[in-house]
Amino acid sequence: MKVVNPVDRSFYKDNRKEGTPMQKAELSVAVLGAGIIAKNHFDAIQKTNGFVACAVVDIHLKKAGEIAQSYNIKAYSDYKEMIDTEHPDVVVIALPHFLHKETAIYAAERGCHLMLEKPMALSVAECDDIIEAARKADIRILVGHTQHYIAENRAAKSILQSGELGSLVMINDVRHTNYFHESRPQWFLEKEKSGGGILANLGTHSIDKIQWLTDQAVNKLRASASFHGSRGNVEGSGLIYLELEGGIPATISQSGYLGSSRNETELIFTGGMLKLMTGDSLWISRGGPYEQVDIGDSSPPFELQYMDLLTAIQQRSETSCSPAYARGVIAALEAVYRSAETGLEQIVEKS
Ligand SMILES: NC(=O)c1ccc[n+]([C@@H]2O[C@H](COP(=O)([O-])OP(=O)(O)OC[C@H]3O[C@@H](n4cnc5c(N)ncnc54)[C@H](O)[C@@H]3O)[C@@H](O)[C@H]2O)c1
Repeated sequence: MKVVNPVDRSFYKDNRKEGTPMQKAELSVAVLGAGIIAKNHFDAIQKTNGFVACAVVDIHLKKAGEIAQSYNIKAYSDYKEMIDTEHPDVVVIALPHFLHKETAIYAAERGCHLMLEKPMALSVAECDDIIEAARKADIRILVGHTQHYIAENRAAKSILQSGELGSLVMINDVRHTNYFHESRPQWFLEKEKSGGGILANLGTHSIDKIQWLTDQAVNKLRASASFHGSRGNVEGSGLIYLELEGGIPATISQSGYLGSSRNETELIFTGGMLKLMTGDSLWISRGGPYEQVDIGDSSPPFELQYMDLLTAIQQRSETSCSPAYARGVIAALEAVYRSAETGLEQIVEKS
């Protein structure tokens, strides 16, 4: 990545071919939030030809300053001031969930394309407001559902689509992790700011993974949740039984209490099984014991996300992880919480 003085707009070359509209050689990217995930974004921006980082914003200016120094960019503490000063082409929203809607709409209304971290927003209603602002401003949004870009997941989807294991019968997804560890930022544990606990933060990864692997939305579900966390007011575990549009059933089991960590998705077919250990390995059984699948080399997920966003901006096409899709994940999450509260099966609202 070339780092430019953000105020020096002359950096951008006019790379027009005769008769084609002017396109910038590189699009400037500003990141909102200098937290845990910010470095993944900056590293991927650096690796993506066509993007150049220009600024970082954090309410704690010191945090923004540290990142700004590493990447030789400008630091701000106020996102509105940054957008109105830098006029970035792309804004990355890596902020607490309750800030996704207001920042997305502010940036969209100023013509910035968006890399919007998951989960898209706190509710379907908020997603709809973002989608409407993007439509009016004619900007592209890629929602950061990283599951779509992880090598083992992509290999599993390719085997599923090949049909070599027969028909998919069911999916069981299990994730255990210590959700209440000391270094987790407090806002994750306050429902008003995060939208929920382990189910909102990690459960949305599981819902997304199942929908994306199968290309089927969740149709209906039943869920339960428990609240025994050592901090905050969010749920610490959840169990979901869901049915996809095509009738395939799946379970999602998430626990954030103490125990041994696990992140496994088992896909059961008529002619075999897949065990997907996202971020680690993929295993296949054709009737015998599991054997590891060689998934070869792949670009890091965040780089693939940025390449997708760049393509969508250049081609004025929909991103591969569109806000309409990400809205569906939030609709499923809303159904999960409705079911956990009422104890009743819930239909997932469609747009
Ligand atoms: N795709 C993934 O796999 C993945 C992984 C981790 C986090 N995330 C998502 O990324 C987002 C950020 O998560 P994180 O773990 O980096 O959180 P974090 O708490 O570490 O970082 C958020 C940052 O935002 C700053 N902030 C808060 N209010 C602000 C404001 N008004 N203006 C500017 N800055 C403000 C905080 O000071 C903090 O530094 C969340 O949506 C989260 O779910 C995604």
